[in-house]
Amino acid sequence: MLILGIETSCDETSAAVVEETGDRAKPWAVRSNVVASQVPIHREWGGVVPELASRQHIRAICGVVERALEEGSAAWRDLGAVAVTQGPGLVGSLLVGVSFAKAAAAAADLPLVAVHHLAGHIESIVLQNGELPLPAIVLVVSGGHTSLYLVQEPGRYELLSRTRDDAAGEAYDKVAKLLGLGYPGGPVIDRLARTGNDRAVALPTTRLTHPDRNAPGLKGDLDFSFSGLKTAVLRYVRSHDGALTEAEIADVAASFQRVVVTALIDRAFDAARRYQARSIGVAGGVSANSRLRAELQKRGARREMPTFLPSLALSTDNAAMIAAAGLRRFRAGITASMDLNADAALVL
Ligand code: KG4
Ligand code: ZN
Repeated sequence: MLILGIETSCDETSAAVVEETGDRAKPWAVRSNVVASQVPIHREWGGVVPELASRQHIRAICGVVERALEEGSAAWRDLGAVAVTQGPGLVGSLLVGVSFAKAAAAAADLPLVAVHHLAGHIESIVLQNGELPLPAIVLVVSGGHTSLYLVQEPGRYELLSRTRDDAAGEAYDKVAKLLGLGYPGGPVIDRLARTGNDRAVALPTTRLTHPDRNAPGLKGDLDFSFSGLKTAVLRYVRSHDGALTEAEIADVAASFQRVVVTALIDRAFDAARRYQARSIGVAGGVSANSRLRAELQKRGARREMPTFLPSLALSTDNAAMIAAAGLRRFRAGITASMDLNADAALVL
């Protein structure tokens, strides 16, 4: 069976065709994965402008879907279902994908599957590597989320912890802005950090020990916090009257990246020990980070813990991961009705 995936939750318009392989260990294969990035449009404003994003999705969606079908050598009649990101994300952007998917499913007489964006990120790891040894700890690190999940059986995600304030990707984007590096911040800081000294600037690490009043159901000691780090960078920039040399900027980038990556990896391995996990997966836009990828593999090898990542193309927002998560849901017998609506704050 082939499934068409559609993703429009933020600033990428994406469509993909994913095939069910029949192999239980590696259940899905990517036939095509077309991503039309809006970065050049938003760069001028230093971040995503929601109104511009939804208008651009409308312009791009038909062409992107047509290309995904063409590159996947698939016609509408070859498909078995349409999967779409229902949320969370920018509501105007989500609505474009949801409306398109509903219209397409109705016209081609196909079942519709609603997918949570973070389920897509989690399943990107399986799409790339095959089923994980379970139980698994999965860290989702993106521009909007930084959360740890326990996966005890395929398709069931139990939230263990999350960030109390900024997401890791958001911290990258804000720090890049403070340093005058432009948008999106992750890739630029990642590149500059390679030439800097990661011990040059003393930056704080936040280690939480108490439960979050807003999430009394969680223990809280695996939570993340990145806003203090951002403020510390701001203070450093101000103490230099905003005039940093290129070498100083590289040092801040490297020092910031060391603290973020250490916090992410430490907490993931803490969780793995606590829940006796048999593997660790990391997904989401920040999982494209070169230091995070290298340190995850290094620490995994040292602790004899298998670790898994999506490819770079599957790390940042894309529709192939939505198609994969959609196939998982479809096989669990879950489809959506034609009154499906976008939900900007959908919970997993
Ligand atoms: O998953 P994603 O594409 O979109 C969301 O769902 O948010 O993640 C985007 C985030 C941005 O904050 C971007 O700065 C960050 O991922 N990012 C990176 C890297 N590439 C993208 N962060 C650190 N290092 C990178 N190489
Ligand atoms: Zn994402």
